[in-house]
Amino acid sequence: MASPVTSLRDAALLLAVQNRAASLALAWSDGATAEVPAIWLRDNSPAPSARHANGQKLFDITEIDPTIHLVAARAEGGSVSVTFSDGHETVFDGAWLHRHAVPRATPPRRLWGAELGRALPTHDHAAVAADDGARRASLADIADLGFALLRGVPTESGALLSVAELFGHVRETNYGRFFEVRTEPDPINLAYTPMGLSVHTDNPYRDPVPGLQLLHCLVADNDGGESVVVDGFRAAQMLQAESGTDFDLLTRHAVPFRFASADAVLEARARLITLDDRGEVSEIRFNNRSIGAFDLDVEVMGAFYAAYRRFAEILRRPALEVAFKLAPGELFIVDNRRVLHGRRAIAASGRRHLQGCYADMDGLRSTLALLERQA
Ligand code: FE2
Repeated sequence: MASPVTSLRDAALLLAVQNRAASLALAWSDGATAEVPAIWLRDNSPAPSARHANGQKLFDITEIDPTIHLVAARAEGGSVSVTFSDGHETVFDGAWLHRHAVPRATPPRRLWGAELGRALPTHDHAAVAADDGARRASLADIADLGFALLRGVPTESGALLSVAELFGHVRETNYGRFFEVRTEPDPINLAYTPMGLSVHTDNPYRDPVPGLQLLHCLVADNDGGESVVVDGFRAAQMLQAESGTDFDLLTRHAVPFRFASADAVLEARARLITLDDRGEVSEIRFNNRSIGAFDLDVEVMGAFYAAYRRFAEILRRPALEVAFKLAPGELFIVDNRRVLHGRRAIAASGRRHLQGCYADMDGLRSTLALLERQA
């Protein structure tokens, strides 16, 4: 496959095809070209015998002749009619081929640091609940930045659940459908003390880890307790720039995370920085409270600790921190696999009461895709 394009001009017209038997060469009116193997075309046949009306495939890869090739191909009216060596015939839409066969440059990520604090991505809850455009804008911020703030959420217990249901489904855990974040006399989790909490991702000891966290402020009659968020992808980028060796150590070696209480024993092994198939950072897990005893080879341990410390120091840099104090009725949502959150210490006097819950990113992305389809 060839010639990347930078725009998504699916309106480009398929102009010409060349049957090369083992593959098909294609050219569109926007200058894009591509070459696709015959087996790829056969596998993606849109013919009713190959694909149900709902879009799902009706056959298995083992049913395709491994020596499949093209017998004929003819472009006409922006489509291409294809006949395969097994007798199968179908017509591909040129726009569909453009969308799936032409490589596209990955759009740059919107990484951020402290400057985001000058214009927090803030949305009005009533508008988000009532208006598709406002909801789409808020979900786009969470998808692009991994963070958004909502104002005007009713200060009623459990109100955060209906916020999660605006875009997806609540992920119930051993903490319940939602949990209370306030000082408790005998806390099972340090979140329920007045201690400051350094920035972290939640629940790294789960598999899969919760994709989104919502934190809703009901009462903030206290000094201190400011919330802090940090873009973990930006921090990972800085680590890679400052020490490729340390970045490699944290992306190569997994470590255990653990949480245990009277009613739960949760353990998972994961990398602090996970890369996707393109080598892009796809997930951060970082939580000093629940990271376990490293079980790395002794030759690696010292270097790994140095890398872990360097990453922790980067995550604490003021240039990366966005700090704000949640007021009653405010709720923030973070992409828990990208954005770390924490809080400054809470003054002993006064009351502070937050509620938190989890949800997942696929539900949010699905709602966003449906809203974008309507727009
Ligand atoms: Fe947390």
